[in-house]
Parts: sequence; structure tokens; C-alpha cells
Amino acid sequence: MSASGKDSVTIAVNGSNRSLTAPVLHGTLGPSVVDIRKLYADLGMFTYDPGYGGTAAVESKITYIDGDEGVLLYRGYPIEQLAEKSTFLETAYLLLNGELPNASEREAFENGVIRHTMLHEQIRQFFNGFRRDAHPMAVMCGVVGALSAFYHDSLDINDPDSRRISAFRLIAKVPTIAAWTHKYNVGQPFMYPRNDLGYAENFLYMFHAVPAEPYTVNPILARAMDLILILHADHEQNASTSTVRLAGSTGANPFACIAAGIASLWGPAHGGANEAVLKMLSEIGSVSNIPDFIRKVKDKNSNVRLMGFGHRVYKNYDPRAKIMQKTCHEVLSELGIKDDPLLELAMELEKIALNDPYFVERKLYPNVDFYSGIILKAMGFSTSMFTALFAVARTIGWISQWEEMSRDPEQRIGRPRQLYTGSQRRDFVPVAERS
Ligand code: ACO
Repeated sequence: MSASGKDSVTIAVNGSNRSLTAPVLHGTLGPSVVDIRKLYADLGMFTYDPGYGGTAAVESKITYIDGDEGVLLYRGYPIEQLAEKSTFLETAYLLLNGELPNASEREAFENGVIRHTMLHEQIRQFFNGFRRDAHPMAVMCGVVGALSAFYHDSLDINDPDSRRISAFRLIAKVPTIAAWTHKYNVGQPFMYPRNDLGYAENFLYMFHAVPAEPYTVNPILARAMDLILILHADHEQNASTSTVRLAGSTGANPFACIAAGIASLWGPAHGGANEAVLKMLSEIGSVSNIPDFIRKVKDKNSNVRLMGFGHRVYKNYDPRAKIMQKTCHEVLSELGIKDDPLLELAMELEKIALNDPYFVERKLYPNVDFYSGIILKAMGFSTSMFTALFAVARTIGWISQWEEMSRDPEQRIGRPRQLYTGSQRRDFVPVAERS
């Protein structure tokens, strides 16, 4: 971040002689920012920006998005290159540490993660407290938060070694928890992790295998899973990441912060969107119903949205959606699923929406969730598991952002201000005197 003396913005209050000359700070890419930290002290005013659409709350070196051009970079590397050439754990190292690892660093990191895949045996008991039909995200919020009650030895957030061990634990244990939520839902025995398998392979094994028979993970599906994890690994200061940072800014422990992130991810406007896409596709039912559905989407009184379309930042094709679309075809072909009606419906819907002035004018393009639900369904995941899988992938993004925040000398407790529009001061009236 740099500021040169001549770059500044002057904010003058009309009708008075008060003004603030605020420095403009420049990053390495993307819009510069106006540093308004002195606004309240100098002018006695706050800024008003509901949804934070124009507010940079942090300085970060991790992920860069150019929403107009459809660009996503992790530590400077384009998502397309990482999706093609990297693995999820290597990408995780990159996000957490800032550079790609050499061969020995990569091996040490993978070993570091893999030896933490098991859960404390007592954590099994937690699952029994939930109803069998509990939503996986409800279980994830509870059990991930509970990790802080089991791993006291890595809770010192001021100690870099403690933070590193917590990071390993979270990256390694969240997949085990996610797989076990599914096993609990369907009433099958929990499968313990296998550390001889790759990260995505082990996850598919814990999810699909049963103790009664051998199970071999299809390598093409393991690679597709790994790719899905890479695509969802981080996405700058989105709602759940900002939640993790806000929780972390209070000094809360990393397990509690990630549980907060999971809660934030659950909503249908964020991580719940791929689940909502499949629900929407099955409600539409057939290609002939698309025009009627699009009419409802465009009707301002209907509250119906085209799920999997639109993004706060991307006003162009989400680069992850393009990769996801290709992977979707590969997975369906590997599984011998020809003419999948949902895929057919999704492609037709995409074609119609991309040519409709309503979507074109508002720059609404498919986002990553438009295709991910179809792939995950084909891979045997229940729709209620989709957001839990997103949480598995995003854990590395959350922990990398939390780690960056922990090292930031400018870090303070997050405390937004407000424009108060409630009652002015008034005196209490006893109930007998109220009309
Ligand atoms: N379908 C129909 N219209 C839409 C959609 C949509 N999916 N998304 C936005 N619009 C319209 C809005 O009605 C609004 O129209 P108006 O200007 O006439 O009032 C305009 O486009 C701008 O929309 P906003 O709601 O202001 O955009 P915002 O940036 O706040 O919302 C969001 C982004 C929440 C992702 C939105 O596009 C949406 O709800 N999409 C569907 C849910 C979804 O797919 N979420 C996944 C996001 S990606 C992720 O989390 C991995």
C-alpha cells in the first residue's frame, strides 16, 4: 500500500468552512482507496455504505478479483492456471503462506495437514445430540465450534506456532466433520480418515465408503473434487470471510471464528446458492416451463431470483463458472450420465438468460454455483451437503485471511458505526399512564 503526498481527496462540508483532505492509498491492482480514518475526528461524520459495496475494510495480499473483467487471482496466480496445474493442498499452502512451495515444503505441509485428519474420539458423541435429519450446516456450525473445547493447546492466537497448528487442524478436520454429518444423516457408521489417500480422495472415501466392503475412489472424481475445492478456496472479503475477520478481530479463537464463517456461509444469497439452484431447476421441471419462470424472475413483485446468476463483484462471467461448466461435462461423461435433464435445463436457462435484456442490462452472469450443484449431485452428494462442501473448501480461505489479520499491525476490533433514525431521547412512562 502506498500514498504519495499529491494523491488526496478533499471532502468539503457545504455551507461551512470545514473540510478534510484525505490521502488516497494505492494497492498493486484494483481501485485506489480514500483513507477516511480521520473523517469523524475532523468533520464529526461517518460514511454510510450499507452492504459495504464501496468500502475497503482491510488491506490484503491474498486474493484479487476484477469483477468487470472476470479475473480471479490467488496470490497473483490466475484461477485457471491453479485449476489446471495445482492441487488443493498446494493451493492451500499458497493461500496461507503467500508463495508456492518447493518440493520439500509441499511434502512437509501435506504431512502436517494429513496427521491431523482424525477427530478426538469424544467428538463422536456430539453428533448424537442432533436429530438424524439435521441440516449438515447446523451440525457443522456446532461441531466445528466445539473443536475449541478439545484443542486447548493451540488456542494462543498470539503465538505463530499455535496458529499454524490450528490451521492444520482446521484444514484436516473440517472434511472429516463434513463426511460424518452425512453418515449421521443416513445412519451409516462413521468412516475414519485414511492418511494414505490424497485430500480430496480421502474425503470421497469417508463420504461414500462403508466398513462392510472395500471402496476404491474413482481418480477422475477425486480430481474433480480437488478442482471444486480449489475453485472455492478463497474469494476475497465476501460475507463469510468478513464474518471470520470480524469475529477474529475480537481475539476469538480460530475454531470459533471458522464456526462463525460457516454460519454466515449457510445463507442462500451466499454458500447456499448451489443447493438453491438445484431446487430451482427441479421446480422448473422442463425446458418448456423456462419462459414462464423467467417472467416471474423479472416481475419485481414475485421475489423470485434466478439462482446461480448474479454476483456482488462479478459483472462479467465468473471465471470459476467457466471451469465448472467444463468439469460438469467431464464428470457426467465419466459417470456415464448422458442427456442429464437437469444439465439440459441449466444450459437452456443459461442460454436464454444470457440473451435476455433484463440480465444483460444488469450484468447478471452465471456464478460458480450455477454448475457446481449439478456436478455434486452426479457425484452422489445430497443437496443438503452442498454448502457443507463449500465450507470444507473455504476453510483454507478463512484461515488464511484470519492469519493475515492476526499479523496485521493495523488490526483493531471491527466496529461499524450507524446512521441512527430511531426515537430521540424520551422519558419512561409507567404502564398505567400509557394510552
Ligand atoms: N435474478 C434476478 N434478478 C437479479 C438477480 C438474480 N439472480 N441478482 C440480481 N438481480 C437484479 C436485482 O433485482 C436488481 O435489479 P434492480 O436494479 O432492477 O432492482 C439488480 O439485479 C442488482 O441486484 P442486487 O440485489 O443489488 O445485487 P447484489 O450485488 O446486492 O446481489 C447476489 C448479489 C446476492 C449474489 C444476487 O445476484 C443474487 O441474489 N443472486 C442469486 C443468488 C446466488 O446465486 N448467490 C451466489 C453468489 S456467489 C457465492 O456466494 C459463491
